[in-house]
Amino acid sequence: MNTYAARRAALMAQMRAKGGGVAVIPTAPEVMRNRDADYPYRHDSYFYYLSGFTEPEAVIVLVAGEKDQSILFCREKNLEREIWDGYRYGPEAAREAFGFDAAYPVSALDTEMPKLMANAPAMFYSLGSDGKLDGQVQQWLQAVRMQARAGVTAPTSVHDVRVLLDDMRLIKDADEIGIMKKAAAISAEAHQRAMQLSRPGLREYHLEAELLHEFRRNGSQFPAYGSIVATGANACVLHYRASDAELKDGDLVLIDAGCELDSYASDITRTFPANGKFSAPQQELYELVLAAQEAAVAVTKPGMRFMDGHDAAVKVLAQGMLDTGLLDRNKVGSLEDVIAKNAYSQFYMHRTGHWLGMDVHDVGEYRDPPAPDGSKPWRTLQPGMVLTIEPGIYVRPDPAVPEKYWNIGIRIEDDALVTASGCELITAAAPKTVAEIEAVMKR
Ligand code: GLY
Ligand code: MN
Ligand code: MN
Repeated sequence: MNTYAARRAALMAQMRAKGGGVAVIPTAPEVMRNRDADYPYRHDSYFYYLSGFTEPEAVIVLVAGEKDQSILFCREKNLEREIWDGYRYGPEAAREAFGFDAAYPVSALDTEMPKLMANAPAMFYSLGSDGKLDGQVQQWLQAVRMQARAGVTAPTSVHDVRVLLDDMRLIKDADEIGIMKKAAAISAEAHQRAMQLSRPGLREYHLEAELLHEFRRNGSQFPAYGSIVATGANACVLHYRASDAELKDGDLVLIDAGCELDSYASDITRTFPANGKFSAPQQELYELVLAAQEAAVAVTKPGMRFMDGHDAAVKVLAQGMLDTGLLDRNKVGSLEDVIAKNAYSQFYMHRTGHWLGMDVHDVGEYRDPPAPDGSKPWRTLQPGMVLTIEPGIYVRPDPAVPEKYWNIGIRIEDDALVTASGCELITAAAPKTVAEIEAVMKR
């Protein structure tokens, strides 16, 4: 059984455990960018996870009952359209290639669905997230209910299929880990290339171009998200996009960029001096963020909780803010006070990580199921989870803060695979220590 068929079987087993029923998982719609030009097509991640099929206008239907059935609805062959847009499988070839039990033209969805739903106890779909799908389900349910006098019953309950799929997707299997490691290696290479080509006088888009060059020439289909290339004060804008600012001698450059490879994201941030040499205040804050990341990495292991890495990073950062005078002890008090009152959030205002997978901010619950006392502890880490570890520090000009730190923005982000005994930083090939960065930039 191929990976995708095995995932479908695993999902249907979970559906059966809930009494069985029919699941509907459509792929993403095509979206126009402007007249006659569409956005590059990206399939839906859930759909791809269960099929490996990348054509638009397709729907997976899984029937978990006495006999499991996995069905694909997809575009028909169309020689004229294929001359313009390229090859399409068509139902018969797609069924064969992707291991489905049956396949139909997508135009047959409205006639087939009421038949498949007849007498099924429940529907499984991502209710309330796609108005079109909600409307289709309603229409199919009405068609099934029309057959009531013939003794046919309609599904009486709905489960959100994402709840089941999110938990599956949170733990990466060997195939996924293999792809994610490749994506991570390409992105690490791209960051190194950007560092090596950096020099004062270039513009942010020049470095973005180097990233895209490295992604694409290694087979990546897209960047996993809009690349951030932020020089000088721009690094303090968390969602800054690569733009046209000039790299100035003495400024830092923050790059947050990762490629998507075969549907899997990577997500790396590196911060380096535009001219290849950290100034003393830059190095001081850089070493602080690096120490915070190391503290978070040390607690990223099975049995620890999702938020432990954040708490460990915050502790190091907050202590560093007091030691450097970013925070004034006389005003904010002790380390405990800084943490209890969130005083550190003036310079560190985001979380230290997120799940990573097909989506850069990947699916998966961040909390364990409620404990008997009603509390909802943070998720316990398990082998096969992948998360980012990305502490930072961002100093906006402020008369209360030593001027030598103004406009320094630093983030260091790696992708961690939780292993049996700890975690593996799959992005570790991107130069990271001050010595490593200065050495590759000298070459
Ligand atoms: N690049 C998006 C993030 O770091 O979360
Ligand atoms: Mn990032
Ligand atoms: Mn991230």
